[in-house]
Amino acid sequence: PALDAMLNLDDFEKTAQKVISAKGWAYYYSASDDLVTKVYNNEVYRKVLLRPRIFKDVETVSTVSKIQGLVTTLPLFVSPAAMARLAHPSGEKGIAHACGSEGIVQMISNNASMKFEDIVSDPIVSTQKFFYQLYVQNDRKISENVLSKVIATGRCHAIVLTLDAPTPGKREADERVANDGKTFSENSGGIAKTETSEGLGRALFAGTSARLLWDDLHWLRKQIPADMPIILKGLQTYEDALIAATQWAPKGLVHGILLSNHGGRAMDQSQPPLMILQEIRKYAPEVFSSIEVYVDGGIRRGTDVVKALCLGAKQVGIGRAALYGLAGYGEQGVQRTIQILREEIETCMRLLGVNSVEELGPQHVNTRQLDNL
Ligand code: FNR
Repeated sequence: PALDAMLNLDDFEKTAQKVISAKGWAYYYSASDDLVTKVYNNEVYRKVLLRPRIFKDVETVSTVSKIQGLVTTLPLFVSPAAMARLAHPSGEKGIAHACGSEGIVQMISNNASMKFEDIVSDPIVSTQKFFYQLYVQNDRKISENVLSKVIATGRCHAIVLTLDAPTPGKREADERVANDGKTFSENSGGIAKTETSEGLGRALFAGTSARLLWDDLHWLRKQIPADMPIILKGLQTYEDALIAATQWAPKGLVHGILLSNHGGRAMDQSQPPLMILQEIRKYAPEVFSSIEVYVDGGIRRGTDVVKALCLGAKQVGIGRAALYGLAGYGEQGVQRTIQILREEIETCMRLLGVNSVEELGPQHVNTRQLDNL
């Protein structure tokens, strides 16, 4: 269908399923075990209801936001996702172009299908800043090398350290397709290749360390500039959020946390980020004033983004949605995906009676159903 016919993110997902190869689709769509968490990530947004106010001047509305000091046009970013070239030949570059035109941050995966250096050297993105996501390898030298190349470009604004996947989740759809033929292979330190007979997810994890500890943040700091923000990705409890905020933020070793269950691809039956936000609000509200808190997982509507902001998220990430946008239409599809979210966020804010993202707060939502879950 024509790009203009794509009205929402679900439309893009349907098109993506038609154009992506069976193995690519299995890898993107799949999640662990029974997909309970993947599905719940989205469905839980329906348990939070909005509380619009009347007699507000909503002629103008601004969605401008900030993430780690960078100004963005939306409280939205693209989460790190491996292997964008399975969706479209333009791969991570296509997503980068779209993020650049729309003014949002893209986090580049450690398992991207293109090197960070190549993505950022594209003249079209010459003014963009990127975040780089790291999986620490057993062989630390590999990670040190990757980081030094990334830092040398001068284009990385922050490091995102993913922590929810010390071992790959059991993604059966991915494994079934892989077993049908020789398909994928391993992460060779910053650029993923394809060619073995296991699932792509499992193959990409080969070499990833299963023994990272909080103290390893000191190691990470030594590899990157002293003032480069560090974001921990994959926190799923208020306890860990509190440790990050009270013990590691003061040392300058954590600047943000991305509450995430990896889109349901790591531990199945773990709680959705919206519930983690609620835990933090209840038991550790001081987290919000010491570090930036983000969420990702299950975002399909502007209202989802707004609800997360009302409950304390500073920005919200999309994972699969960017890949699905890319699949059928290349960078234009990703751009349109972001624009759709922009229009939906603006409409939601106007209907709520607010003019800026800073105004959004718990007063705009009814969470009684969520709290009873
Ligand atoms: C991911 N995700 C991910 N996360 C990460 O830190 N490093 C990575 O390399 C990848 N790779 C990856 C590949 C694919 C195909 C998907 C779908 C996801 C997780 C990603 O950053 C994000 O947390 C989720 O995708 C968010 O959920 P939604 O938006 O896909 O529902």
